[in-house]
Amino acid sequence: MQEFVGRTAVITGGASGIGLAVARRLGREGMNLVLADIEQPALDQAVAELEAADVSVLGVETDVSDVGAVRRLATAADERFGNVHVLFNNAGVGGGGPILEPDDIDMWEWVLSVDLLGVLYGIKVFGPSMVAHGEPCHIVNTASMAGLVPTPGLGSYTVSKYGVVAMSETLSLETTDTSLVVSVLCPGFVRTKIAESDRNIPEHLVRLEELSEELEFLRQAVQDLVAGGIPPEQVADAVFDALRTGRFYILTHPEYGDQIRQRAEWIVAGEAPSSWDI
Ligand SMILES: NC(=O)c1ccc[n+]([C@@H]2O[C@H](COP(=O)([O-])OP(=O)(O)OC[C@H]3O[C@@H](n4cnc5c(N)ncnc54)[C@H](O)[C@@H]3O)[C@@H](O)[C@H]2O)c1
Repeated sequence: MQEFVGRTAVITGGASGIGLAVARRLGREGMNLVLADIEQPALDQAVAELEAADVSVLGVETDVSDVGAVRRLATAADERFGNVHVLFNNAGVGGGGPILEPDDIDMWEWVLSVDLLGVLYGIKVFGPSMVAHGEPCHIVNTASMAGLVPTPGLGSYTVSKYGVVAMSETLSLETTDTSLVVSVLCPGFVRTKIAESDRNIPEHLVRLEELSEELEFLRQAVQDLVAGGIPPEQVADAVFDALRTGRFYILTHPEYGDQIRQRAEWIVAGEAPSSWDI
């Protein structure tokens, strides 16, 4: 895409972290914004901040794991701004534990429903009309480095993010003859509230808050890594660059290149993965 002024972007998970940083960036470029988030107070605050900066913005409380809610989001976006040109399928929750953990099926269902199905619903609800309007448009799906290399201890998250990479690669191949461009964002650690994702956990899962010692240790390690991550503004710049250039894989941490190459070599050689430090 080369023209941004007056075009419209829908950003899920737009009230915090990477989503909010991208919203600020695209707002500065003159885009109309539709922010979708499950957290109403944070959403209100983000909308107020952007309005104060003269951005045309609509906030829609949305749970991306509910396809009906995503359809209502699309209706609201269409009524306010008409055609959508950028869909940033970014809402996500951190979580998970070792795959052999026997009692966390509910947590798996939550993480997969937000991080994987949430992206699918965005594509299915917005994608066909984006292709149909025929104007330059772009879908960016947020995966993670955990979608490119295995991450022990974060089973449901890793599986969701591999799925988002697979969905993006496949969608990209299926839309080569259209005006829709697809990218997948695969950051390493970014300084956001992702390690506090339990703030949005559905009520019926809260009992799983009582963590085993192993999970508590893992959670603390992830919290420390996120706190030492890159600022979300750096990710927003990379996303904007991809919108302009059409880059498919958006990698914000080039230092992980060796791990990606290593995984490809394991696959070709038929070897089991061996572990590394994240
Ligand atoms: N922070 C990192 O280190 C990192 C690394 C790789 C990938 N990611 C991915 O980046 C994306 C954005 O996360 P972030 O790091 O900015 O974290 P964040 O917690 O700061 O922001 C995530 C946003 O998504 C919203 N959200 C959560 N569940 C939702 C739902 N069901 N429906 C709608 N909105 C919902 C939250 O309220 C929040 O505003 C996620 O997909 C995450 O997996 C983050």
